[in-house]
Amino acid sequence: MIAFSKHSVPKKIKNIFNEILKTGWFTHGKYTEYFENEFKKFTGAKYCTVVSSCTAGLHLSILALGLKKNSEVLVPAMSHTATSHAAEYANLKVKFLDVDHKSGNIQYNEIVKNTSKNTKAIMVVHLNGNACEIKKIKKFCEEKKIFLIEDCAHALGTKHQNKHVGNYGISGCFSFYPTKQITTGEGGVVITNNKNFYHQIKKLKAFGIDKDIKDRKLPGKYDVKKLGFNYRMTELHAAMGLLQLQKYNNFLKKRKQIAKRYIKNLSEVVHINFNSYDKDSSYFIFPILTKLRNSLLKHLIKKKIGVSIHYATTLPFMTYYKKKYNLDKRKYKNSILYANGNISLPVYPKLSLKDVDKICLEIKKFFKK
Ligand SMILES: Cc1ncc(COP(=O)(O)O)c(C=O)c1O
Repeated sequence: MIAFSKHSVPKKIKNIFNEILKTGWFTHGKYTEYFENEFKKFTGAKYCTVVSSCTAGLHLSILALGLKKNSEVLVPAMSHTATSHAAEYANLKVKFLDVDHKSGNIQYNEIVKNTSKNTKAIMVVHLNGNACEIKKIKKFCEEKKIFLIEDCAHALGTKHQNKHVGNYGISGCFSFYPTKQITTGEGGVVITNNKNFYHQIKKLKAFGIDKDIKDRKLPGKYDVKKLGFNYRMTELHAAMGLLQLQKYNNFLKKRKQIAKRYIKNLSEVVHINFNSYDKDSSYFIFPILTKLRNSLLKHLIKKKIGVSIHYATTLPFMTYYKKKYNLDKRKYKNSILYANGNISLPVYPKLSLKDVDKICLEIKKFFKK
């Protein structure tokens, strides 16, 4: 069996878990701080705060913008439902945009075409670890005075013009779900270069409490001026993230080697489509597109190869959104084509090139039948 994903949490984690068990500092401790510092260094962001998931980070980011009820937010039609849910939690109105047919990413031209005076924010996604046209989008947002939030759930290690993604918008939110480039089980982080925004997120993730534990004059003495949540990350989770992040440059090299191997092996297969090699992608997965998606998927599963789909249903046509917005399928031709055609092939440091060759051989055999 070739797994779809395998974690790379260093064995040293057991010693740290034991240390945390002994001290009893399960939260508010040094590992959260170490992880945040390391994350700032890795991404080049000025500020960073860990949260319980990327969804929590997106929710807090959109809330911190302080937008009026029913303000319009542009969201790509091809993403995890967490992206649009975050806007819905904040009582905003989602406007879905069709994506690029080959990369599945949000498109600059669609943003320009669909922006109106009601548009107050744009949430972009760097799908599969491939950066969208973020520099152009940022410039457009600045001109139009629109907030930009980057969903970087797939994009740890992804750069765009030498800058780590997540640094273009007011916030960048990352996920540490088990299939992601590094995992904490569940977990996420918000990065920003805006001090005021950072302090807002920090308060909102901890009930809206106005003072950190360390800053309280008397234990338990604090005030709450805004409605917040409990979206904190534990020390155990932070320690897991920290150990993987310290090795991430090596992990990233391996991910890129795997992507190159897929490209080399699959370039002669005329029935599939994929993007050319991008040295700045972090290759969350290796996506391929084919008209025979379901039968190829079944063939690979039968051959005990772990595969997935990102994503099989476009967001506007998930029942919740379909009922709420009643949108016309003709406006989402690319997204629907992408949803019906994509297969995610595995990419992770422990995947051997021999296994990549095996996966590619099975794909070739399928098309030769
Ligand atoms: C694009 C995207 N955004 C957001 C999320 C939500 O991340 P989390 O599971 O950490 O809340 C995911 C989850 O996989 C995702 O793929």
